[in-house]
Amino acid sequence: MADSAKSSNRFYLTTPIYYVNARPHLGHAYSTIVCDAVARRKRALGIDTWFLTGTDEHGQKIERSARLAGRTPQEFATAISAEFRGLWDRLGLTYDDYIRTTEPRHKRGVQHLFATLRERGYIYKGSYTGQYCVSDEAWVDGPPGTICPDCGRPTETVSEENYFFKLSAFERKLLEFYETNPGFIGPESTRREVISFVRSGLKDLSVSRTSFTWGIPVPGDEKHVIYVWLDALANYITALGYGSDAPEDKARFAKFWPADMHLIGKEISRFHCVYWPAFLMAAGVEPPRSVRANGWLLFDQGKMSKSKGNIVRAETVMEILGADALRYFLLREIPFGQDGNFSFDALVQRYNGDLANGYGNLVSRVVNMVHKYFGGVVPESGAPTPAESALRASAEKTIAEFGPAFDELNFSDALKSLWALVAETDGYLTANAPWKKPAERSDEDHQALQARVLSTAAEAIRIITALAYPILPDATAKVWHQMGQGSLAEAAGQSFLTRLAWGGLKPGTKFNEPAPLFPRAEKDAVERMQNLEDQNNKSAVEAASQGEAVSPNPATASPSVAPTTSTDKQDARASEVLTPTTAVNPGQAAATAPVHAAPAGQASPRLSTSPVSAPPSEPAAQPHPNTAAPAEPVQGSAAPQEQHITIDDFAKVDLRVAQILVAERVPKADKLLRLEVDLGYEKRQILAGIAQYYEPEKLIGRKIVIVANLAPRKMRGLESNGMLLAASLPPDGAPVLAGFLEEVPLGARLK
Ligand code: MSP
Repeated sequence: MADSAKSSNRFYLTTPIYYVNARPHLGHAYSTIVCDAVARRKRALGIDTWFLTGTDEHGQKIERSARLAGRTPQEFATAISAEFRGLWDRLGLTYDDYIRTTEPRHKRGVQHLFATLRERGYIYKGSYTGQYCVSDEAWVDGPPGTICPDCGRPTETVSEENYFFKLSAFERKLLEFYETNPGFIGPESTRREVISFVRSGLKDLSVSRTSFTWGIPVPGDEKHVIYVWLDALANYITALGYGSDAPEDKARFAKFWPADMHLIGKEISRFHCVYWPAFLMAAGVEPPRSVRANGWLLFDQGKMSKSKGNIVRAETVMEILGADALRYFLLREIPFGQDGNFSFDALVQRYNGDLANGYGNLVSRVVNMVHKYFGGVVPESGAPTPAESALRASAEKTIAEFGPAFDELNFSDALKSLWALVAETDGYLTANAPWKKPAERSDEDHQALQARVLSTAAEAIRIITALAYPILPDATAKVWHQMGQGSLAEAAGQSFLTRLAWGGLKPGTKFNEPAPLFPRAEKDAVERMQNLEDQNNKSAVEAASQGEAVSPNPATASPSVAPTTSTDKQDARASEVLTPTTAVNPGQAAATAPVHAAPAGQASPRLSTSPVSAPPSEPAAQPHPNTAAPAEPVQGSAAPQEQHITIDDFAKVDLRVAQILVAERVPKADKLLRLEVDLGYEKRQILAGIAQYYEPEKLIGRKIVIVANLAPRKMRGLESNGMLLAASLPPDGAPVLAGFLEEVPLGARLK
């Protein structure tokens, strides 16, 4: 362990690095704001602080998101990373370094770490077949079709040659480490979960992938990319210079490592509390001193997340109420470590109650009265009465309580006690009413009372302001200036919090002009924020659809989707391609898809669907009349013999636009692909017999047509919920998926 001088004089804290698959929202802002508040307080206490944040840019999830947006992963990552950084800057967050995992310094460090683990005998080559959750970039135990226990999405089957990390060798060492470092994991609930996870046994961990390329190559075996979590976790050391021989990097690493605090979301504690210390122990590097897990910010009762579509952006709150309001709300409202609800109503209520009517109003009253009664100069207070002594005692108690609560990340209690002092100061002012002179009080006595009360209240405000600085950096800087204390940023740089004590406001100090701090939020504030979010969501949908228009989507680009004539296989089930007309009436089905105009001179493929999803009772398995079509196709007019159905019959078939999110082969079924598709209103799994014709990777992002109301069917233990529409090409019924030339929203009905 590091020496104690090192631990008391410097503090290295980190946020998780954010995936660049989506733009930042309040959930991300939460962790970063917490770290910023901690960093500000540490610096103001004279502690040499290093605050790191950044973006996690590699892996399958990012590769796929980039593809969906029609951009290269690098371009895509650069754009979203810049959005994160831009937002942190607009929020005034004081990070010292911003790491991107696509930077050369990071790549060098990760490869050095991997090589070190291999040299020290902790990495070996093997092969892996198992389930992988792309959304969490995590391995999941269970058979194909297993749902990820963390995020609830279906996992994908991965069968690859991989490098493995000997995690199993660290079971005992980790348990000992937790035992001897009881403060390593917090809160207690997370600590218990982690310990029980390790106690239940650790298996070796696959730490490389070969089925995609967007990652850091394994040194010396470049067809492997390093597992994205090994890559990402290493940011905490590569940003300090791990793996570099440059003297300044070595010095920074020696100074700041081990990290004092990794602040993370609770769902990524296994990676930080199990894998990360094990990797470090294996590499001969000291583990971090602590990992602290925050709970989730919920909106409309669910974890705020892009995939749930329930996000709120920090920009919206900033625009209407300011960054300080957001910081205060998040730290005051949500006990750290627990989940907390975000709502515009609650935000406005807190803002008006605590900031506008509370602190803001108190400051304005006192500063204005010092101007009004004393020309803006702090008067001598004179001898304290019991009322002043009581307020002073409360302020001293608050100083004593606030720090430890804050340093334990118990921001909510720290702020509660600080705002109790705001209320007490307010009550003290009201009780002594320096603006009101009773007839029996002499002018002299009244002025003495005004001097005593206003200088005492001002001193309480100075204490409140100093303590609130890490949470309300903008507002407190204004108050500091109004109270003639100079620049708060400078004071913070000179460790002003170490000297914070009652009596610091000297008589004779000249106040500056009062300026409004937190103007009261009007009734329509909630509505304005909601409108901003609605507008943003609308333009995001538009932007997304424009992005998709440039995304590689052969279905929309290729005229080959057009049906011509049909000679599809009689036994569609055998080919694992069935015609939709087997679920629907053939002639009508083709007629419903105007995009499928038949080019002349080709045999006419029929629109087909995944046979495997068709219940056996459906006519799918029966020979289609068209299979008895003339051997020689008739140009453009090879109309199948039509069996008419009524419009009501057709209306029973729910044909919808869907987008393929996940496509993978089904083990031991050559012809089957397992697809996860997004209908806009829901996601579902469909099995399709197109594996011989489509590379799964190339399907991701494509918009297709599905029969959405087909009864579910189980295949190889997996449930299929729907069928794809595809043209079936002669001679062997090769499927060509139906698609659109124009942009179509997900879930749109074909009728
Ligand atoms: N890239 C990984 C972290 C790698 S750290 C070496 C990752 N990224 S993430 O973008 O999905 O999440 C980053 C952090 O944001 C996590 O700590 C996560 O908990 C946090 N949040 C994302 N949504 C959140 C809420 N709705 N509420 C609170 N925090 C949330 O995981």
